[in-house]
Amino acid sequence: MIRLQKQLGESYTNASPQELDARIGAAKERLGDSLLILGHHYQRDEVMKWADSRGDSLALSRFAAASNTAKYIVFCGVHFMAEAADIITGPDQQVILPDLNAGCSMADMADTEDVELAWEEFSRVADIDNFVPITYINSAASLKNFVGRRGGSVCTSSNARAVLSWALEPLRGSDSKKVLFVPDQHLGRNTAFQLGYEARDMALYDPRLDNGGLDEQAIKESTVLLWKGYCSVHQRFTVDQVKSFRDAHPGGIVVVHPECPHEVVELADAVGSTDFIIKTIDQAPEGTDIAVGTEIHLVNRLANEHPDKNVVSLDPLVCPCSTMFRIDPPHLCWVLEGLVEGEVRNRITVEEEVAEGARLALDRMLSIS
Ligand code: 13P
Ligand code: SF4
Repeated sequence: MIRLQKQLGESYTNASPQELDARIGAAKERLGDSLLILGHHYQRDEVMKWADSRGDSLALSRFAAASNTAKYIVFCGVHFMAEAADIITGPDQQVILPDLNAGCSMADMADTEDVELAWEEFSRVADIDNFVPITYINSAASLKNFVGRRGGSVCTSSNARAVLSWALEPLRGSDSKKVLFVPDQHLGRNTAFQLGYEARDMALYDPRLDNGGLDEQAIKESTVLLWKGYCSVHQRFTVDQVKSFRDAHPGGIVVVHPECPHEVVELADAVGSTDFIIKTIDQAPEGTDIAVGTEIHLVNRLANEHPDKNVVSLDPLVCPCSTMFRIDPPHLCWVLEGLVEGEVRNRITVEEEVAEGARLALDRMLSIS
């Protein structure tokens, strides 16, 4: 989704890195406790160094929910994360995204109207009361609202297993219960496999095809209906890359994010969220060769923080998340200086009617995990 980010003036675009650092530092000091800067692990180092708290999507939601003193939450991450923070923080708190064009291409793959249409299609062939919708946190607030109002939950990469179990566990043994998992097919598939489901229990719903490309029997016989969305960064990791790394480093380990394709996850030694990847590398013995299947800014940071280990990207042709990369020191400086001048720039708000249902889905997730 294209959002209109105002062009920054020359005092930001022409400023040197040292000048920007000094100005960001001064504004941060002036704002004191009224400001909380949150940074997702995929942020570039020049931005990340200013974060008061760093985390994966789940941890950042928790930091936002617990931050009752900060009046301004500057979210160095992407749009869906800032929306989620606005939904779970208090009415006196304002959430700011330094660059409005920092979206998530995966979140954009699940248009809420398309999901509503799919739901209608399912209701024509099966008992819709048996369906539980689950949306990955990488989705628009309107989709979270849809899910929350239908008894479903949000999940993140670190609690997808707990949330899918919550949706299906009491129902195991019954072949009539189902989950619609949106928008990341890979996270949904990897999690369902972890829980012991098989390929025949899953079906892929393609929103570009009539009825998602599924016939009545496929909908009736599947337990997990996966939306055909993906992350362009993580979908690039391949089985051949795992094999080449293992050939070169027979004792090495492969750690990947669950947004990677299932064939890659199957061959990996460990799979988990960005926080999990960080912990796994922290705990690996000195001298370990580690190939990491996730966004390159995090991989490079881990390599720098662990000079005693050989941390490399699983994909030699590294792929950054271009939308996370939009948050840079000039935009961070611009929003902070705006706050010092009493102007809130790039506030992210979710209207209450939408926030109400979305909050149900987010609160359900926070109580499950
Ligand atoms: P994490 O919740 O693991 O940080 O993942 C967020 C994300 O967008 C990964 O691409
Ligand atoms: Fe979205 Fe992929 Fe970027 Fe994560 S890495 S924010 S899923 S595009």
